Amino acid sequence: MAALRIEGYVIVSADGMLADASNVMPDDLKFEGDKAFFTAALDRADLIVHGRNSYEDQPNSPRRKRLILTRTVRSLAPDPANPNATLWNPEGASFEVACGQSGTGAGTVAVIGGPNVFGMFMDRYDVFWLSQAPRVRLPDGEGCFPGVPARSPQQVLASHGLRAGQSQMLDPAAGVTVTPWRRA
Ligand SMILES: NC(=O)c1ccc[n+]([C@@H]2O[C@H](COP(=O)([O-])OP(=O)(O)OC[C@H]3O[C@@H](n4cnc5c(N)ncnc54)[C@H](OP(=O)(O)O)[C@@H]3O)[C@@H](O)[C@H]2O)c1
Repeated sequence: MAALRIEGYVIVSADGMLADASNVMPDDLKFEGDKAFFTAALDRADLIVHGRNSYEDQPNSPRRKRLILTRTVRSLAPDPANPNATLWNPEGASFEVACGQSGTGAGTVAVIGGPNVFGMFMDRYDVFWLSQAPRVRLPDGEGCFPGVPARSPQQVLASHGLRAGQSQMLDPAAGVTVTPWRRA
């Protein structure tokens, strides 16, 4: 499995939220620069992994191979709604077996949420791309990782052995940046 490189992607508010109090990602968290960064990354990925509510819904989405976490299956099953998707319950099949079922033996895996799914891979990311919108606050929203907001997203990433690299500006007007957190 060393042949698989695992990357994570999220955009969070100043208070570490990825969705609002209704568990919806609000328009306030959507920025063209971040969308372009995220789209290019997913276009390069060999496999996308996400929970049932975190489909990215982009023009290229139907072409992307994906694993969708759900407890509606016991282990693995083809998604009747999408020939490029495999439904996966980690209780019934390991990540390695799920990748094999989806036909991905090597390459880059992009993990795109939600919080519980991010949490599952915390000790396995090669790099986690943390986008931040410093002028957006989502009180009572959904923390991006298990343990947020008691701890910041940065504290959670650091506690799993990841270290911040050089940030890139994605939206100067809104101050939105992305920072790679790489395994030390
Ligand atoms: N800001 C961002 O970058 C970002 C990133 C990702 C998501 N979001 C937003 O966050 C919200 C989605 O959050 P969410 O909490 O609903 O998360 P989610 O992980 O997308 O969906 C939760 C569902 O995924 C399945 N699931 C999750 N973990 C599982 C596990 N360990 N085993 C089996 N099934 C599992 C379950 O599906 P079943 O109910 O079918 O069993 C669960 O109900 C959306 O509004 C989304 O737009 C934002």
